[in-house]
Amino acid sequence: WPFHAPLVHAINELKRERNAVILAHNYQTPEIFHGVADIVGDSLALAAKATQTDADVIVLAGVHFMAETAKLLNPAKTVLIPSRNAGCSLADSITAADVRLLREAHPGVPVVAYVNTSAEVKAEVDICCTSGNAVEVVESLGVDRVIFLPDEYLAKYVATQTKVEIIAWKGHCEVHERFTGAEIGEFRRRFDRLTVIAHPECPPDVLEAADFVGSTARMIDFVGNEKPPRVLMVTECSMSDNVAAASPETEFVRPCNLCPHMKTVTLSGILESLQTLEPRVEIPDELAARARRSVERMLAVKP
Ligand code: 13P
Ligand code: SF4
Repeated sequence: WPFHAPLVHAINELKRERNAVILAHNYQTPEIFHGVADIVGDSLALAAKATQTDADVIVLAGVHFMAETAKLLNPAKTVLIPSRNAGCSLADSITAADVRLLREAHPGVPVVAYVNTSAEVKAEVDICCTSGNAVEVVESLGVDRVIFLPDEYLAKYVATQTKVEIIAWKGHCEVHERFTGAEIGEFRRRFDRLTVIAHPECPPDVLEAADFVGSTARMIDFVGNEKPPRVLMVTECSMSDNVAAASPETEFVRPCNLCPHMKTVTLSGILESLQTLEPRVEIPDELAARARRSVERMLAVKP
């Protein structure tokens, strides 16, 4: 921490000068999460809170699709993404042309897109969702069948929670797909009184082995509310680091899968971004209007 102090100080000063706000995802490292972020949360909270700020500049300490979502909801504001390399394997797994082909293959079936998609894909779909509201969004459509993309495992999890038939795409999160049910079994053998909580981007055998499944924000709330003596957070490494300080009564068993994209965001990158007001997220107006509609529909169902 003392090592980070000059950067944290400089960022917080510049934030005031620029009338900027920093929105940080729960996977950001502790010095960003605790040191410079004004708002932290899962992708649903970051989208919802992005509609409520009166700052002139939004810095999205997260990955590119999160910054695009913030820009869609704030077309007149400057939205900065402090790393040009903060992609996402799910967002990269599907294109707008793929969505058009899916529609041709399943005429009349509505398309739900996880927010982990590009603006081009959002522009082609009927509604977006996050892992925090996917079941409610699917059921809000009042139909028997939906196309759900791009996360196959989230789609399979949603299918266990609803009677609506789910047609899934085969995208995967490169971080969560590496966890296995066997690994969870091994942790349970090694640590007694272990509560396992998992993100729904994990494969089905991992979710079956978990005591609780939810978005990153719901996982954090679960620990805060239930105060389990010992917990395994089956998700990106930084989550446990960020929550541990606020949960001294809980011991965190830490399997570590890093999101290489999230980790390209650094304090020095945030400072440079605030100094130069680059890299900015820009989305052409016509594309943005169509993509925005899908995000706003989602927020109208469950922010
Ligand atoms: P949450 O919406 O649950 O924060 O998840 C976002 C994400 O990218 C998880 O890998
Ligand atoms: Fe994408 Fe997975 Fe990284 Fe989340 S953890 S940003 S889904 S690659």
